[in-house]
Amino acid sequence: MQRFMIVGGNRLQGTVRVSGSKNSTLPIVAASLLLDGECTIKGVPRLRDVAVMRDVLVHLGADVVWEKDAMHINASSINCQDVSEDLMRRMRASNLVLGPLISRFKHAKISYPGGCNIGSRPMNLHMKGLQALGVEITEKFGYITARAQKLQGSEVYLDMPSVGATENLMMASIYAKGTTIIRNAAREPEIIDLQNFLNRMGAMVKGAGTDTIRVTGVDKLSGTTHTVIPDRIEAGTHMIAAAITGGDVIITDVIPEHLEPVINKLRETGVYVEVKDDQVRVVADKRPKSVDIKTMPYPGFPTDMQPQFMALLTVAENTSVVTETVFENRYKHVMELRRMGADIRLEGQTAVIKGMPRLSGATVEASDLRAGAALVLAALAAEDGTVLEQVEHIDRGYERLENKYNALGARIIRVNS
Ligand code: UD1
Repeated sequence: MQRFMIVGGNRLQGTVRVSGSKNSTLPIVAASLLLDGECTIKGVPRLRDVAVMRDVLVHLGADVVWEKDAMHINASSINCQDVSEDLMRRMRASNLVLGPLISRFKHAKISYPGGCNIGSRPMNLHMKGLQALGVEITEKFGYITARAQKLQGSEVYLDMPSVGATENLMMASIYAKGTTIIRNAAREPEIIDLQNFLNRMGAMVKGAGTDTIRVTGVDKLSGTTHTVIPDRIEAGTHMIAAAITGGDVIITDVIPEHLEPVINKLRETGVYVEVKDDQVRVVADKRPKSVDIKTMPYPGFPTDMQPQFMALLTVAENTSVVTETVFENRYKHVMELRRMGADIRLEGQTAVIKGMPRLSGATVEASDLRAGAALVLAALAAEDGTVLEQVEHIDRGYERLENKYNALGARIIRVNS
């Protein structure tokens, strides 16, 4: 167990580079299971979640070499299609191997992921989609077993544009006979990245980025090299770090279009945001103004930025309203922000935040990845020191966040609890 000791009050200044996207890397690494051969993924961030996905692949029998930001995966020797409870518990997104395994081996078994800190997160849409392709699903003793004689292209309508279900269905239909049409598909940039990777291997996937994706089955894929897109949530987090500390930070290696909802909301608070090619500069010199936020699937405001943006709103002028519509239980950070002096009232899925001039340091705990990031941001702007427990959650999605912020002038020390 590790904790951060954070001394707040420093204005962040300088340049910070964004790593490769966690949420692109995870499905792309899982998709490499489709290939009877070797592929290379570049721009792979050194994150705990990515290490879990590597462990899942190794458990299934793949050869994985991860050096610096490149992962070389050879999935020709897969000898198992079962993902145990232990690996599933370490990371929900391990369920992304379901699609590629069923596509290539016509069999997969994963432990049921269950609920997590931000909501119940069922897999009914993944299963409904797989069944439409001819997969037989049984749920017993906490495991989901998927089997098929053959996979037949079909039309699937997702009741909700689930990112994971869209990705699993894209991968499941790669070797299916005929064409699969996924309607009301998720439109996140990570889905486009997955499509690009699959097509580089020889798949025929069209429409990612829109709500209709068409996959025409192929017989064979071949090895390729692919670089994942930059992490838009990491970039958004750095933007808030600049804004909340009254800083001046240039964030490089970003795709600004992916950040539009965050950039627009930040501008509404009065923060100056300049966009140039693959860079965003954020300059803040006064207290932010209050704004209202409602999380939505892409291209709406990302739920993965809700806790961090809320941290900013705790020090805004006047009252802001945040509504979470994607996950039912994504307010664990509220209690911790209150410990730091924030005035937040919860009414169901809505949080009403009365901005204060400053927060004060306290001992708080990261309950999940983005809640942890929000607490780091709050601590950077707080008076006095903050002790942040359970930083392992933060390491799931940020590469040594303390090093990136210390290089900009923050004071964060990592210590063993
Ligand atoms: C992905 C992201 C996560 C992000 C989320 C929403 C990865 C690895 N993770 O998670 O960071 O917060 O998208 O942008 O990419 N749902 C169902 N039934 C299903 C599937 C989902 O009801 O079968 C619901 C979920 O409970 C949730 C909503 O749909 O309320 C969105 O979930 P989903 O888009 O599937 O999120 P993930 O893919 O798990």
